[in-house]
Amino acid sequence: DKGGHKHFMAKEIAEQPTVLGEALSYYLTDAGIALPEPGLDFTKFDRLTMVACGTAFYACLTAKYWFEQIARLPVEVDIASEFRYREPPIPARTLALFVSQSGETADTLAALRYCEDKAMIASVVNVPESSIARASDIALPILAGAEIGVASTKAFTCQLTVLFLLALKAGLDRGTLTPEEASEHLAQLKALPGLFNAALAASPEIEATAQKLAEARDILFLGRGPLYPLAMEGALKLKEISYIHAEGYASGELKHGPIALIDQHTPVVFMAPSDGLFDKTVSNMQEVMARAGKVVLVTDARGAKAAAEGTWRQIILPEVSPALAPILYALPAQLLAYHTAVAKGTDVDQPRNLAKSVTVE
Ligand code: M6R
Repeated sequence: DKGGHKHFMAKEIAEQPTVLGEALSYYLTDAGIALPEPGLDFTKFDRLTMVACGTAFYACLTAKYWFEQIARLPVEVDIASEFRYREPPIPARTLALFVSQSGETADTLAALRYCEDKAMIASVVNVPESSIARASDIALPILAGAEIGVASTKAFTCQLTVLFLLALKAGLDRGTLTPEEASEHLAQLKALPGLFNAALAASPEIEATAQKLAEARDILFLGRGPLYPLAMEGALKLKEISYIHAEGYASGELKHGPIALIDQHTPVVFMAPSDGLFDKTVSNMQEVMARAGKVVLVTDARGAKAAAEGTWRQIILPEVSPALAPILYALPAQLLAYHTAVAKGTDVDQPRNLAKSVTVE
């Protein structure tokens, strides 16, 4: 049942305010952040290794920023198919964390099996009875509900929400985050479903931008800090369902190669909330515009006021705390991909060559 939407993907994008709220009510009690049994005590770990594929991998890359900044915990993130065959050493006091919507991805499960006798195993999954959940010492549900569209949307933002809560728990356990700071983060997190609803006001501009993007052959997505993994996620989403070639890069890498691609035919989407790194991003934007590149600036009102001049299109979102920006900015990334695919007339929910769950390697 598509609930009145044209595609499951549209329905699942629209469900995000609700499912994010459900994930929050599951994990937040009067006593604070509550994990399912047997819980996790981050004083027992000196490092975190996160392993996943595809969109779940980008959720892990985003969470690396949080665990490092909030909990000062060294983090390694790897793609499951690389990790399993590299057979990396797993030092004592490592927490191994596997992220998977389906809980059945063959490479992620194999990577988990490799760690089984070497580390405590945690997983962040959407399907609680899945193989990955069952093989874990602790399985953390994301509560996104069934995700039918092959392109992962609500599972991504729910994964991010659960990973952010885990980073707060890690910070509290390790004493790098005060209870007051944690409460401030939690207040921001609780406001997120409302911000998602408010961000939907940008839908008409996103759709109009997507009509134009549908004519492009190559599109770049750029972001800094925790928006860098989101840039890669935006590119993945777009190529999966619209079949347009897209790449996600760290904005600071522009000059190290991808700038050679820029001409009047290359749209460049900047995921750029007005955070502490905004000015750096603005100079990257100017480099693109100086080469006639078409800048799609995704920012907030403050960012638009400071830097919209000369950009091709502007997508304005509500202000959000810098840590949570990658969750909110997932919405325009998803909607840009969705409307571009619709404009191109592709099979949005069942894109060619792709399967929802990759159970063979
Ligand atoms: O079920 P999983 O989260 O383990 O799946 C991982 C990837 O196959 C998945 O995220 C894939 O990249 C999606 N099609 C992305 O939209």
